[in-house]
Amino acid sequence: MKHLLSIESLTAPEILEILNLAATLKATRGHEKHQPQQPLAGECWGLLFSKSSTRTRVSFEVGIRELGGDSLFLSSNEIQLGRGEPIEDTARVLGRMIHGAVIRTFKQSDIETFAALSGIPTINALTDEEHPCQILADLQTIKELRGTLDGLKIAFIGDADCNMGRSWIWAAARLGFELRLACPELYCPPAELIARARAAGASIMITESPEEAAQGADILYTDVWVSMGKEEEAEYRAAQFGPYQINDSVVAAAAPGAHVLHCLPAYRGKEITAEVFERHADAIFQQAENRLHAQKAVMTLLKS
Ligand code: CP
Ligand code: NVA
Repeated sequence: MKHLLSIESLTAPEILEILNLAATLKATRGHEKHQPQQPLAGECWGLLFSKSSTRTRVSFEVGIRELGGDSLFLSSNEIQLGRGEPIEDTARVLGRMIHGAVIRTFKQSDIETFAALSGIPTINALTDEEHPCQILADLQTIKELRGTLDGLKIAFIGDADCNMGRSWIWAAARLGFELRLACPELYCPPAELIARARAAGASIMITESPEEAAQGADILYTDVWVSMGKEEEAEYRAAQFGPYQINDSVVAAAAPGAHVLHCLPAYRGKEITAEVFERHADAIFQQAENRLHAQKAVMTLLKS
């Protein structure tokens, strides 16, 4: 693995290798006699962010430090990228100075261009198309909660065409669990993408009914209705997504003991009720913690 640009670009063995290493790094974190190697020793990684972040930024900054490296946070507003310097030039400059890049931006093609032209390991820290780091942490969490990913029914309720919905589609294609998507027709991922994922082995059911998607599901998952960059559509989206909330009646349709997950940040009263959120807060914050472990595993494997 030279880069982590998407879940789509990973193989099943690569995903499982990341999850196994993430579990080891989590189990041995802070244990003196199990100090992991420091694969980033002597390195400086850049975090290029064009969108806000709490979890991703902090988990990468801490993770890089724990792996022996240093990091630079480069908000696009504060570097020339934000004033129109092309990504191609930014990549060729930074590739000569830093040792790895973690990029949060809009266009997937920008991180692909950066990876191709910089010559340094490049990680997708969220684009409009995918959020692979989040999905890896989610898969790690589900393995911890359920013991396995095999045979699970996972229901994603909400904006299935956002980066999280699309990342779930590729995770289903690679790992073989059953994915149900409940979304308004307007926010279904493109038919071409679904067809490609199904051809790659994904079992995907699409419905406009959250209850139908939740029926007997082991995991209920949601994300914000208004992803970063879509703020001008907030009012329209609130009307469209109103029925796509994880609430008591959706949870009641799921399998007994089903887990509810959320990538965060959460908007209570919108995509999830406050009551359901608090009842499942332990698992949700376990997901957030696992960002650190999963990303340390990714960076370690990019250096191996
Ligand atoms: N889930 C997630 O990526 O959170 P941040 O936007 O806070 O990084
Ligand atoms: N779909 C959300 C994910 C936030 C972590 C967004 O892009 O804003």
